[in-house]
Amino acid sequence: MPNVEHDIHSFARPDVARVTHVALDLTADFAAKTLSGRATLRLQRAPGSTDVVLDTRDLTIERVTDTKDQPLTFALGEPDPVRGRALAVQLPAGIADVVVTYRTSPTAEALQWLAPAQTAGGRHPYLFSQGQAILTRTWIPTQDSPGIRQTYTARVVVPRELRAVMSAEHLTPDGTDVAGGKAFEFRLTQAVPPYLIALAVGDIAFQSLGPRTGVFAEPSVLSAAAKEFGELEQMVTSAEALLGPYRWGRYDLLVLPPSFPFGGMENPRLTFATPTIIAGDRSLVSLVAHELAHSWSGNLVTNATWSDFWLNEGVTTYVENRIMEAIYGAERAAMLDVLERQTLQGELSTLPAADTVLHIDLAGRNPDDGMTQVPYAKGSALLRLMEQTVGRERFDAYLRSYFDRYAFQSITSAVFLGDVDEQLLKGDAALAATLRLEEWVYKPGLPDNAPVPRSEALSTVERQAEAFAGGSRAATLASASAAWSTQEWLHFLGKLPPTLSVAQVADLDKTFGLTARGNSEVLFAWLRIAITHHYRPAMPALERFLTSQGRRKFLRPLYEDLMATDWGKAEARRIYATARPLYHAVSAGTIDTIVK
Ligand code: BES
Ligand code: ZN
Repeated sequence: MPNVEHDIHSFARPDVARVTHVALDLTADFAAKTLSGRATLRLQRAPGSTDVVLDTRDLTIERVTDTKDQPLTFALGEPDPVRGRALAVQLPAGIADVVVTYRTSPTAEALQWLAPAQTAGGRHPYLFSQGQAILTRTWIPTQDSPGIRQTYTARVVVPRELRAVMSAEHLTPDGTDVAGGKAFEFRLTQAVPPYLIALAVGDIAFQSLGPRTGVFAEPSVLSAAAKEFGELEQMVTSAEALLGPYRWGRYDLLVLPPSFPFGGMENPRLTFATPTIIAGDRSLVSLVAHELAHSWSGNLVTNATWSDFWLNEGVTTYVENRIMEAIYGAERAAMLDVLERQTLQGELSTLPAADTVLHIDLAGRNPDDGMTQVPYAKGSALLRLMEQTVGRERFDAYLRSYFDRYAFQSITSAVFLGDVDEQLLKGDAALAATLRLEEWVYKPGLPDNAPVPRSEALSTVERQAEAFAGGSRAATLASASAAWSTQEWLHFLGKLPPTLSVAQVADLDKTFGLTARGNSEVLFAWLRIAITHHYRPAMPALERFLTSQGRRKFLRPLYEDLMATDWGKAEARRIYATARPLYHAVSAGTIDTIVK
């Protein structure tokens, strides 16, 4: 058994008995909003072990037996506010499989049950799961720790008119008729952390995009999605050129209904994505590059604990940028880098120092607290520093070998640093002194040797923003901005000071039609400006945006901005009263703390 640092967010004691495979047999009941059935867990036991401890939360455990249906003694522990409840099962000698018969709660945090009105098509209900970070235990009783890798199979029975998809091989793509519905079967033969087990059920159609790529979406969204992600196969090929073979077989996207709380989630073989990245011009596809990159950083080599989350997200954010550079060129990549650093600088100025450490201390906290820009942008800056210090050729060779060395393993920050030392620095003390890796990983803030990203195009835009803030009319920008990309617009809007007059804001809107933009990122940046300056003509668009999608990255700042004004508090409460039932528990939980 690999010697992994203890995961404080799991009750499991994998050194005593470890789950190595999960076999699910579940039925989705949309009326009751429950999944019910059985999870059969294959165990690897240490000599002399007498029990196995699993993670659960809000599960009703009906029975626990061996594979011959003989009852096993079990006990649920006291609920812990962060971890949920331990499920301890007594193990007679020789028992290698435990069968847990259970049902989920209608409020299981990993599951969102959508009414037809909350979908794009409006005619069928929808269900999706979101496991990361510690939510899988709300729908599967297993050892829910990123250091405990498990293969899985599943049989899922759903209403006849719906289709089930999972982060696994689809063994019965069309399902088979059974009493009361259709059964779909799945298998993932690569061992993954349980946060990557994912399920979606709905009116879901498929379009192929290439030999091993394609997109799943509701029928009404499918053709727009297929156009937006037309470069998917090329992205996989570019990633392989940089990182080595793609080891998961197919790579498909699932476009979820608008309430999906994240931009994307790297479920193996099947990235889950928000529909808000369908802009019509492929301008937001860096998110796909990001989730694809997780097929190496995250899914192949995984953070062993949630304190090592930056190993997933920082390496991925760096690789995302390299994929974007390979496909769209250095200038687009540089723009993305500058925008990302800007967001990081903003967060570094408001976060408590302890939360700006890459290896974050999460004792007594929810891993969600570590989901800031720090693991992403500070993490990717560290990889960029390594690249620039040793040179791209040597760094790329290292990166590729790193994925080979740790393939299908979960590792800590200390293991990563040890590996860099051994395989990249190779005892070169001067190089080590230049990098200051320990400071990067274990100390707060952005070290002063961080590379500074630069983009000519964005510097030009910055000057335009200064000119406008200084009194130029929007019309004088019109010819320059006619060819601006989404990234240039985002930079322009991000660089405007919070002290514009309402007349200036109105001038921008009349000249550029910002309130009517369909690009979610541009509209989001604009709506923040509209709130800060109480620009009334944008308020209907703000309300529409807050009630038509549930991506937390967009919701949180907009509600915070509203709550920071006198007039906006009542507006935030009024809109939230309507919108809350549309949001996922992950988003609603966050907005509850802002609006209350
Ligand atoms: N793995 C994350 C999403 C996540 C992290 C979910 C932690 C739950 C807990 C995913 O890869 C991600 O980072 N998504 C980003 C988009 C990305 C382009 C930065 C998001 O959803 O905003
Ligand atoms: Zn990510």
